[in-house]
Amino acid sequence: MENVIKITLTSDPVIICDYENVYPPSDDTYLILDYFRNNINQNYVDGIDIRNIKKILDLGTGTGIIAIFLEILKAKYSNFNPKIYASDILEEAIKCAKLNEKENHIENQINFIISNLFKSFPENLKHSFNIIIFNPPYLPSSGIIEKNRTKTKMDYSWDGGITGYDVFLTFIEDAKNFLDLNQKSYIYFISSSRTNIKELNKILVRKGFTNIELEKKHIFFEDIILNRLEIKLA
Ligand SMILES: C[S@@+](CC[C@H](N)C(=O)[O-])C[C@H]1O[C@@H](n2cnc3c(N)ncnc32)[C@H](O)[C@@H]1O
Repeated sequence: MENVIKITLTSDPVIICDYENVYPPSDDTYLILDYFRNNINQNYVDGIDIRNIKKILDLGTGTGIIAIFLEILKAKYSNFNPKIYASDILEEAIKCAKLNEKENHIENQINFIISNLFKSFPENLKHSFNIIIFNPPYLPSSGIIEKNRTKTKMDYSWDGGITGYDVFLTFIEDAKNFLDLNQKSYIYFISSSRTNIKELNKILVRKGFTNIELEKKHIFFEDIILNRLEIKLA
């Protein structure tokens, strides 16, 4: 009989997005999901010993899809057992994510936080995350937002300020305080070719990070890039 190799791919969560200000899963979201799907096994997540991963944060969770996907991976890989945290600046994103958690039959597993970046995070989460994932608002607002217009809730999904990475850089200022620096820890984030990526990388190097481009996808007016940041351990 022929040998049959059976590969079961972890399926995407079921996502309902009825809130008009909440970002529906898009190409950037799936770039992240696919990367994790392809880089996890019983022993490692992207090269990190799976048993050492105690806490993962999905910052800017939107519909909750990334956090829920991580819970689905937990069910599939018995050695993968981190606590999953999901945060967003928008209250309705957190409401939507909680509904989606129920929809995927994993009630009350994810720890939700409404917060502008890390501002409302409790002190006890400092230096605790082994992995932080942020699909930030990454498009430059210049030329799109008219002067003096107040930011709307929907703008939080895409408006990365004048450079496109203003929100991301504010995030990175505090991210070091929330990473577990006693071992290898990673930050995954999305960037866009519509921004000055060279300049962003220079800034990240100055701040002590090494950045690797993991995946790139062309979508009609830009390339979106999945990056992985690592901080040099002392
Ligand atoms: C591009 S969407 C990504 C949503 C989801 N993670 C995904 O990949 O489908 C960006 C998310 O970041 C959130 N966000 C924007 N600014 C934020 C901030 N300062 N603090 C926390 N979340 C923020 C938005 O509300 C939105 O849900």
